Parts: sequence; structure tokens; C-alpha cells
Amino acid sequence: MSAGEGTRRLPAAVDEIQSTLDMPIPTDPLERVIGQEKAVEIARIAAYQHRHLLLVGPAGIGKSMTAQALALHLERPRTELRVVHNPENPERPTVEPVTREEVYREREAARSVEGELIAPKEAPAAVAERLGYRCPRCSFYSSPTERYCPSCGNVKQVLPGVGGSGNPFRDLVGGILELTVSPGGNPQESVRTTRLRNGTEEVVAYERAGERIKVLDQPALERRRTLQKESPRKVLVKLDRNTFVMATGASETELLGDVRHDPYGGHPQLGTLPYERIIPGVIHEAHEGVLFIDELPHLGPLQRHILTAMQEKRFPISGRNPQSGGAAVRVDNVPCDFILVAAANIQDLHGILSPLRSRIAGSGYEVLLETAMPDNDANRLKIAQFCAQEIALDGRIRPATREAILELIKEARRRAEAIDGRRHALTLRLRELGGLVRTAGDIAAVVGSEFVEAGHVRQALGRARSIEEQVREVYGSFQGGLRQESTEAQRQTVGYYSWNEHPDTGGYG
Ligand SMILES: Nc1ncnc2c1ncn2[C@@H]1O[C@H](COP(=O)(O)OP(=O)(O)O)[C@@H](O)[C@H]1O
Ligand SMILES: [Mg+2]
Repeated sequence: MSAGEGTRRLPAAVDEIQSTLDMPIPTDPLERVIGQEKAVEIARIAAYQHRHLLLVGPAGIGKSMTAQALALHLERPRTELRVVHNPENPERPTVEPVTREEVYREREAARSVEGELIAPKEAPAAVAERLGYRCPRCSFYSSPTERYCPSCGNVKQVLPGVGGSGNPFRDLVGGILELTVSPGGNPQESVRTTRLRNGTEEVVAYERAGERIKVLDQPALERRRTLQKESPRKVLVKLDRNTFVMATGASETELLGDVRHDPYGGHPQLGTLPYERIIPGVIHEAHEGVLFIDELPHLGPLQRHILTAMQEKRFPISGRNPQSGGAAVRVDNVPCDFILVAAANIQDLHGILSPLRSRIAGSGYEVLLETAMPDNDANRLKIAQFCAQEIALDGRIRPATREAILELIKEARRRAEAIDGRRHALTLRLRELGGLVRTAGDIAAVVGSEFVEAGHVRQALGRARSIEEQVREVYGSFQGGLRQESTEAQRQTVGYYSWNEHPDTGGYG
């Protein structure tokens, strides 16, 4: 049957297991998706062949789970996306895709300029004072982020030539120390000095590095200078990223990226260069991965942009607020080669932009998910597997006994008939069934039981009712409860609402 055979026989029916401890959890995330064989098979193909996917069905049957599992079947991203300053036209930064090999090579090169990290006490006292680690008055060492010395309360300010250690040259053994004095004597980020080593004078830089100090010798400083000579750039979409990116309910800027506003309008000294203000959209972050959009129809007119991105596999990033200085900035051709996995309810299908839908159908698959599965030995065992998975996922619940699993199966059977009118079937609306497992688990935990027992599941069934069911019980009908509650709420929160609706306050009104 499977690789596990020789060592441990897989159970064939629920009678063969004592508890969820006997239920192996598949290592392949797609095999953890229960009862959706067709969707799983197609997800496997989509991952392998880079096809788009539309998953259709009600909530809580495994659409998000399938999309996530698909993403885990993709190779890890091969490129990092960077945005590079364009000296000729700063408002048109360019995009630079960098391969994994190049990124690794650069990291190696950067490591060689990384310098040595030392404890602040190992640095010359005057350096430690300049960088804000040592109090010039009482010599106490503390973090440079603390403006005041925790020992004597003195401001950790170094007055030129009057520092606590008196002559800053004094404490250097066998070297000369020249300090660049920052205006106002505030602690500096870095200090550059010269030191004598083997009879020759060399430049050495000390920099703040959190709780430690970084020492860069002359060769390290030279390597850094060559690196900095290249055009300034920043990483837009990093190499080590998740291949699963959610775009559910995203706004236009979240979806497509943006250019931050610069309050100093790109002023050469105060402002930030345009390339630094570029923000990627989720379509770019999903490059070489899965872009998952739950409730696709709710994206409305933004679906048009998704279609363009899918067709072009690249999408410009520009400032989306016409009032902002970012509006003049644009980066063209930013790669966004993703697999679209979209989910929708049957009743919302008409809300999907039709060319987008034909694009998915044309270069991908549409799958209707199941809401119930036949009630047979194999599928009852799947409910046991589901129970084991939910318990493992939660991490706080004890294992469930066979009797507890049988109780869960009974409930799965009841729900298939009550909700979907399916007889001799088991529900696949598993999110809700998961809630039942957790409630039963909590009950077992509170009474200190070693296992989740059938009785705990029965008790949980009484507790895990939805708010609608609970309201119906208290108020007789859901609508009645709604009416009664809203008048009460209005009476109590008049102040809040009137503030919120006031046109000048910028509230949500
Ligand atoms: N087919 C399934 N197999 C296993 N677990 C499921 C399945 N469907 C739902 N679940 C459980 O319910 C949770 C929510 O399901 P989800 O994938 O978000 O449903 P949907 O996206 O269809 O609303 C999952 O994380 C999982 O714990
Ligand atoms: Mg979901």
C-alpha cells in the first residue's frame, strides 16, 4: 500500500485503531486534504506544470488548505528582485532580477567586509564612549540605545576633549586615536581612527552593532568602498520567501504595489530617493509562487489587474495616490510570474471577470469541491486521520480514543444529511468538525483526562453550537434576537456613533 508497510501496517478500518495515536499523519501536505481527491490530483498537476486553479465550493472544505499544500510542492524561488537607483532619471528606477547563485556569491563577498564583532569593553574606552556604550562620567557600560546612563543618570554625551576619561588618547595601548567629533557631542554610529600596528599606521573603523561593536580594518573598509560604488539598490522581493502569498481582500496598493510619499519631495539631502520608496505588491511577492485569492469575486474591478499580470507576467509599480509625490515614480517590468489559485462560492461565480475566468480555464483548471463523501470503511478512517491531524495541529489536545472518533463519525454522518441532504455520507465541511474536536479536547483537558473520550465529544456537541443556534435558543428566533440586540446597542453607544459620523472627524461614518 505505502512505504510504511514493512514496519507498521496501515489500519484498514477504524476498529483496528485504539486511538488517534495509531493514525499516521501523511508527510505530503496534499495527502492531508481529506475527501477532495479530484482537487488534490489537479493541484498536483498545477504545481508541476504551473497551471492556474479555480476552486469552487462552500467555506471550510479545504480550498485554502489545498492552495497552501500546492505551494509547498513548488520549487523554492530562484530569483531575488531588486530595484536599482537610476542616476539619469531617479523617478524611473529599474528592476534587477538576481539569480540564487549570484545572491549567494554576493553574500560570501559581503561576509568578507563584515569585520569582527567585539564586546564594548574590548574597544578603546574613548571609542566606547563615542559610540554611546560607556558613560563618560562613571565608566558604566550600557546599551547605546539608552540616552541616560543607568548607573549615574548622566546624559551619555561626550564633550569634545572633556570626556570622563579625560584625554581620549590616553587609554590606547600602542596606538594613536583621533576621533571625529560629532556636532553636539551625541553618541555616533561609527568612529574612524588610526592605529599603529607593527610600526605602520592604519585606518580602523568602529561601528555600533547592537550590543556589540564591529571593527573594520583597512582591507575591509576598501572592500566595502568597492561594493558601495555600484548604484544604490534595495531588495524588493527577497530570495528566501514563502511560495504561498494571500491576496484575499487586498486593496489596490497591496495588490499592485505603491511608491511611498516623501514629505521632503525628494530633496537631495533630506528626502529619500525614489527607488527607496518602492513597495512591491502581493502579485510581485508571489513571483515564482502561488498567489491565493479567496473569494475572488469580492476583488471586484481589481480582477482586471490580476488578468493583466497573468498575461504579461510583469506589472509596473507606480505611485497610486495622485496627490502624493510618489505618483511621478514608476518601475516598469517588475516580474510577477505566479500560479493563481482562486477560490469562490458557487453562488458568486458570476462575479468573476469573464476574461479572467476563461484565462484560468484556458491555461489551468476549474474544480468543484465535494461537500460530503460516501460513508464507507476507508472514508470513516479518513475522519480518524482528520481527527489526528487536527489534534497534532492544535498541539494542546490529548489524543482521542476510538470511541471518541466513532462519535465524531456519527456527527459527520448527521451533518452530511442535515446540511447537504446526503444520506449514507460523511460531511466534508471539516472546518466546523475541527471546532468540535477542539472543544472536546478542551473539555478533556479541563477534567484532566488522558484521552479525549466519547463523552467529551458528546458534551462538546452541546457547546460547539454556532452563535445563530445559540441566539435561536435564547431569543426564540434569530431575527428576533437581532432586533432586540440592535435597539439595546444603539441606546448604549449613541456617543460613539455620533462622533464617528461627524463629517469633520475623519471617522468611518
Ligand atoms: N478537506 C479537508 N481535509 C482536511 N482538513 C480540512 C479539510 N477542509 C477543511 N479542513 C480543516 O479546516 C480548516 C479550514 O479549511 P480551509 O482550507 O480554510 O477551508 P476553505 O478554504 O474551503 O474555507 C483547515 O485548516 C483544516 O484544519
Ligand atoms: Mg479558506
